[in-house]
Amino acid sequence: MKHLSLLLLCCSVLCCSTAGYSHELPEGAVPLAKSEQCAACHPTIYKEWQESFHAKSSALKDPAHGAVHQAFVKAMEKKGKKGNYHCANCHAPMADNIKELMTGAAELDSNNWTHAEGTGCTFCHRIESIVEKKLFNQYRLNKDGSFHTNKPAKANLPHKTGQSALFAVGKVCMGCHSHKMNGKDVPICLMKDEAQGSNCLECHMPQVKGAAAIGAKGTTHRSHKMPGGHDIEMLKKAATLDAEVTSKGKERNLVVTVKNIIKHTFPSTNPMRIAFVKVVAKDKNGKKVWENFKESPMEDKQSFFFKAFKAGEKKGVPSWAADGIAFDTRLKAGETRQLSYPLADSAISQVDVMLIYRLFPSKAIKGFAIPEDGVNEKAYLVAKKSLTL
Ligand code: HEC
Ligand code: HEC
Ligand code: HEC
Ligand code: HEC
Ligand code: HEC
Repeated sequence: MKHLSLLLLCCSVLCCSTAGYSHELPEGAVPLAKSEQCAACHPTIYKEWQESFHAKSSALKDPAHGAVHQAFVKAMEKKGKKGNYHCANCHAPMADNIKELMTGAAELDSNNWTHAEGTGCTFCHRIESIVEKKLFNQYRLNKDGSFHTNKPAKANLPHKTGQSALFAVGKVCMGCHSHKMNGKDVPICLMKDEAQGSNCLECHMPQVKGAAAIGAKGTTHRSHKMPGGHDIEMLKKAATLDAEVTSKGKERNLVVTVKNIIKHTFPSTNPMRIAFVKVVAKDKNGKKVWENFKESPMEDKQSFFFKAFKAGEKKGVPSWAADGIAFDTRLKAGETRQLSYPLADSAISQVDVMLIYRLFPSKAIKGFAIPEDGVNEKAYLVAKKSLTL
């Protein structure tokens, strides 16, 4: 647990040069527009987007991301290097001086809307192709400013549209959600391998009620809320929890089964995300007589689903120092994991089993001064089973 705060830095810190590394907007291209400009005709989609983390992804809007970025800058400065905001590639992709932000030649400016916008409407809908790179991918945007979907281009709309196969099953997401490597080829995030062949839109952009635009014929549209780890209803769809007690003579054994029922790792992407099983055993008066850990799930090795890095023999190092993965106990797509606990105390007559998810473990909240806002430090109860013996 001691090194946890260090390994938690991992998701974000890449030690490689990102010089000259940014999205491509062709010479003379139509400029990107503020998402507010779409609200008048696309009010439902605009509202969904505003609630999504794509609208809050900039360090100017997401205090958790901002705090981790500050920790990254301090870590760089400690090593005598200049900090930078290469995070902008995915967290503030519309920034009008993104190259300078990414190399450290410029800093975020709260008066510049392109820095605060996050991943806005025109960024996604003008994606023409993904530029595959080793550390992380980039996008090439279109020149003519037409808005792409997987549908055939329509005539007589207030704006140009275009058809792109990238939008069909969510390939379009894989400029930002594909992978992040550190300088020693250690995968920090690896969605492209962890979710092979899965259609991101099927779960993250379901068809919901409401026309796609004012005056549009259709009565449904793809939701732009794009929920993930911040949404308890989404988390409940990720895994199932079962528990049973088996007896052999006087010996009783609790078997807990957790199954990942989605098409990528649970918890996914960000190495700071953690899920774990908490078991509390009580006597007939409801008094606690045993639990699988007291302070931290790290006390019970089988209980947590989490990824950590190593350097040589040392486990729990930050990703920029990592030469490999120390362990990755997250549940792979479709994986079933069984946990086994002998119930030694004969007084045990009731067992509560809980599957809990946290965006950031407590050590990360403290280590990065991530604001405790009722979200970041919360333990989300994904599932619970109570057994009476
Ligand atoms: C003056 C009204 C108006 C404004 C402003 C507007 N749109 Fe639209 N847009 C429409 C209409 C109408 C449709 C057709 C909807 C339909 O029939 O399903 C549409 C369709 C779309 C589509 C889907 C095209 C398809 O293939 O189905 C996208 C993507 C889109 N708009 C993006 C945007 C973005 C991004 C903005 C802001 C920069 C924007 N729109 C601003 C009216 C508008
Ligand atoms: C993170 C990327 C992303 C962002 C940001 C985004 N969209 Fe979309 N949008 C998509 C994808 C993917 C689809 C589905 C395309 C398809 O089905 O072919 C889509 C579909 C649409 C459609 C067609 C809806 C339908 O179901 O017929 C409209 C209209 C649209 N978006 C407008 C907007 C507007 C307006 C915004 C900003 C408020 C926005 N989008 C932001 C990715 C994005
Ligand atoms: C330009 C980069 C970019 C693109 C394109 C993009 N995303 Fe994201 N996405 C992000 C970033 C950055 C975050 C994290 C924002 C934060 O929490 O600060 C995020 C967050 C998310 C989340 C997690 C929300 C949560 O509750 O934490 C989901 C789910 C998601 N994106 C799905 C998608 C899907 C589906 C697509 C394609 C239709 C897509 N994204 C396209 C950058 C992108
Ligand atoms: C079968 C449904 C399903 C499919 C398909 C799917 N996801 Fe997810 N995804 C989920 C669920 C449920 C969660 C919440 C649990 C979690 O965070 O792992 C989630 C979480 C996420 C998160 C949030 C991570 C965080 O830290 O908050 C991201 C990002 C994400 N998915 C991206 C994608 C991308 C990209 C694809 C396509 C390659 C995809 N997902 C395909 C169901 C799905
Ligand atoms: C290659 C794209 C990419 C880059 C570069 C990137 N991120 Fe992210 N980041 C994401 C995506 C996608 C998510 C959402 C999925 C998830 O939670 O893992 C995310 C989520 C996060 C979160 C969780 C936010 C929340 O509200 O829970 C933090 C913190 C974060 N990133 C920090 C950083 C920092 C700091 C940097 C730069 C030093 C950085 N990231 C660089 C893609 C990126």
